[in-house]
Amino acid sequence: MTLSGRTIILVISGGIAAYKSLDLIRRLRERGAVVRPVLTKAGEAFVTPLSVGALAGGKVFGDLFDRDDEHDVGHIRLAREADLVLVAPASADLMAKAAGGFAPDLATAILLATRAPVLLAPAMNPAMWSNPATQRNVARLRDDGVRFVGPARGEMAESGEAGLGRMSEPLGIVAAVEAILGDAAPRGPLAGVRMLVTAGPTHEPLDPVRYIANRSSGKQGFAIATAAAAAGASVTLVSGPVGLPDPRGVTVVRIETAAEMLAAAEAALPADVAVMAAAVADWRAAAPQDRKIKKGAGGAPQLDLVPNPDILATIARHGTLRPALVIGFAAETDDLLANARAKLAAKGADWIVANDVSPAGGVMGGDYNTVHLVTASGVESWPKSGKDEVAARLVGRIAETLSDRRTAAE
Ligand code: CTP
Repeated sequence: MTLSGRTIILVISGGIAAYKSLDLIRRLRERGAVVRPVLTKAGEAFVTPLSVGALAGGKVFGDLFDRDDEHDVGHIRLAREADLVLVAPASADLMAKAAGGFAPDLATAILLATRAPVLLAPAMNPAMWSNPATQRNVARLRDDGVRFVGPARGEMAESGEAGLGRMSEPLGIVAAVEAILGDAAPRGPLAGVRMLVTAGPTHEPLDPVRYIANRSSGKQGFAIATAAAAAGASVTLVSGPVGLPDPRGVTVVRIETAAEMLAAAEAALPADVAVMAAAVADWRAAAPQDRKIKKGAGGAPQLDLVPNPDILATIARHGTLRPALVIGFAAETDDLLANARAKLAAKGADWIVANDVSPAGGVMGGDYNTVHLVTASGVESWPKSGKDEVAARLVGRIAETLSDRRTAAE
């Protein structure tokens, strides 16, 4: 896992070679990289956001003014989080804009805003590549410290044409990425481990303005994702609506409902470890209304509720895609340990982190947690500590357990 825990922004610009970028995403992720794809408008003509998102296991960025990110100037945040910005394919047009310092869209704005190394994999017709304007732009970009891989010589998509301009093959591009990042790749007890974490509440709509929710802040799940990434894991964090920023080096998928959380969690498989810290709403409205429910004359409306899917139980019983270690949480106000043991069995989890959420404890929304680790072999009670400390301790236990299992298997 040469790229474990490294975040790579992959800009896919327009060009027939964009289809190779799908394979490139897979190859980068296989090596542990977190890939955040940015698809330009021209790129969208060649590959769909759906296929790019499915392979990258997360959100595809496209628009400079993304409404989801408007509170946190999206391009600056993306640019800051990257360990490397890779453009593959890099079109003549994109290189011209980058060389001139223009930033009309998200991809070029990132290139302007990033301090991470930038690697371009050009792909274009040989005539365009050899054009003096393109060569001038390439020279200028090189002077600015931008690195290049390719283009290669070979047959073009347009039949009968051959020459210099083909995009390098995905494995060649990966080798160039490794040459830049490989040595600095984080080592840690979880290097090479893929982890799925769920966090926060879910919101289940009743009508366009009202929803069922709970008091979960997401802090514990975010702390676990942060600690795991710092230990070298490649982490996907699926979070309900919370007011917390994306942890560094973590792929964050933001969702609202339990159904969306389940879909995002399943899309993040395969994973070696799953930690389900989300406080999933147990029920949703059987028929959410398209229009605001009015008071009317008939008194209070009857809420017709149906159960939500159990995400922990679904992942724990996922057959071949079941993570090797599945960890759930149990939030209880009464009979903490008995309920936690019952959940361990009922949900098919390996461990349950049990915490007392009775109002007196101040756990919900607070910064402290008193937890008990319930496993098939017994209960371990941890002292009251900050959520960051609980996260670090849990990550330590996960690393120990995986390493014991590896030793046992050798
Ligand atoms: N969980 C889940 N999907 C659900 C409900 C719970 O993945 N629909 C997970 C939680 O993330 C947690 C564990 O199951 O890891 C236990 O959650 P908790 O709220 O304590 O238990 P519930 O299953 O909801 O049971 P109850 O509310 O009856 O205590």
